[in-house]
Amino acid sequence: MTATTSQASAPVPAGAAAAVRDYLDLPGPRGWPVLGNIGQFDRRSFHLSVEAGVAQWGPMFRFRYGRMRVMVVSDPALTHALLKDRPQNWLRGTRLSKLLSSLGPRGVFSAEGDDWRRQRKLVTRGLNPEVIRKFHPQLAELCLRLVRRWSQADAATAPAPDLMRDIKALTLDVTVALAMGEDVNTLEHADNPLPMDIHRLFERIGARLRSPVPYWRWFKLAPDRQADAAVARVQTAVGGFVDRARARLQAQPALRERPGNLMEAFVAARDEADSGVSDTDVIGNAMTMVFAGEDTTSSTLCWAVYLLAQHPAVAATLAAEVDALLGEQRVPPDTACLEHLPYTEAVVHEVLRLKPAAPMMALESTQERIVGGVRVPAGVLVMMPMRERRCAPRPLPRRLSSAPNAGWASSTWPATHSAG
Ligand code: HEM
Repeated sequence: MTATTSQASAPVPAGAAAAVRDYLDLPGPRGWPVLGNIGQFDRRSFHLSVEAGVAQWGPMFRFRYGRMRVMVVSDPALTHALLKDRPQNWLRGTRLSKLLSSLGPRGVFSAEGDDWRRQRKLVTRGLNPEVIRKFHPQLAELCLRLVRRWSQADAATAPAPDLMRDIKALTLDVTVALAMGEDVNTLEHADNPLPMDIHRLFERIGARLRSPVPYWRWFKLAPDRQADAAVARVQTAVGGFVDRARARLQAQPALRERPGNLMEAFVAARDEADSGVSDTDVIGNAMTMVFAGEDTTSSTLCWAVYLLAQHPAVAATLAAEVDALLGEQRVPPDTACLEHLPYTEAVVHEVLRLKPAAPMMALESTQERIVGGVRVPAGVLVMMPMRERRCAPRPLPRRLSSAPNAGWASSTWPATHSAG
């Protein structure tokens, strides 16, 4: 199926009744009264259930999850067109934005419409190439910590490193350093309470996202109360980071023009006359950055290690490319180096394609719309799995297939993935 932007998502035209299918005419699993299809979808691996649904009912199907009506769209062209149609005609999903707001100050992820544009402006001012470039030495130093830790673990007496734990700690350290300008060093100090609070907060967001009933609006369970307490502590800590960033900007005014991390960029933007940005916006977006950046990068890195371990030829080619460029250095000295690692970049893209860190995206319309020829009532959540139905290996991009030692095409990446 192909789709153009105009047919992908259009308001319902007058007299179009015969030209389109109705949402209720889509195939999908039979459900129970009230509960709908709860129980048929695995709450812990929701995306896998949805992918299985695509295999069974095709690229467009419907289901109901309690009161939530869902239409699944698994056509790349249609998905692309729908995403391009946000924020004009689609919200990210009132459920997600209410949920994020219920557990902390608002940021770019929980905002919609003009509020989103305002928050987005703030975020893009901070997340720019100059900030990333200036951040690189700190990023390199944080990565070296992991290299040192794992090199020590090579010794016969040291226990084998807990790969997932260490990678997660590293990405948390990196995102907190980038977003807040602080070195929390959870890699070497597991007792720091901040990461545990951030973890508790994310764990609750995940649990609430999967819960069919928003019970926390009426009463709180013990984990919800713990999460509320964690949010209060994180906000206090981040408020302190804002004060420290402001003190740095006062001591070195040049940082206002050329901030060294997101927090400094946010505070500089906040302090401009008539900025329309508040300290709460700064705190909300600093927390959003950690939320957006930590788990996505750690799970991508973990999957990369897993896939490379399964494909030693690919791992060897990647290592040879890195060694040829860096020699004895263990991490790239600057961001310019990354331009010279095309095979490594291709591996990262392939990992993201096979194991996308955000395996599904969702949109919701506030008015009835036509999506791919289907009349979708307002309030229906359109869920879009990001992974191709059959995740087959792709041929190596042409520029790489002619490169020496690039054995990607002949090496077989897993053809299907049911694990995650
Ligand atoms: C493998 C790594 C990553 C993946 C796969 C990923 C994926 C995504 C996806 C799919 C979205 C769109 C969400 C939506 O519109 O519903 C998104 C948005 C966003 N991501 Fe990432 N992300 C990654 C890393 C990061 C990092 C490291 C940061 C920052 C430190 C970050 C910051 C953001 C922000 C701020 C948005 C929201 C943009 C907006 O609403 O305008 N992401 N990301």
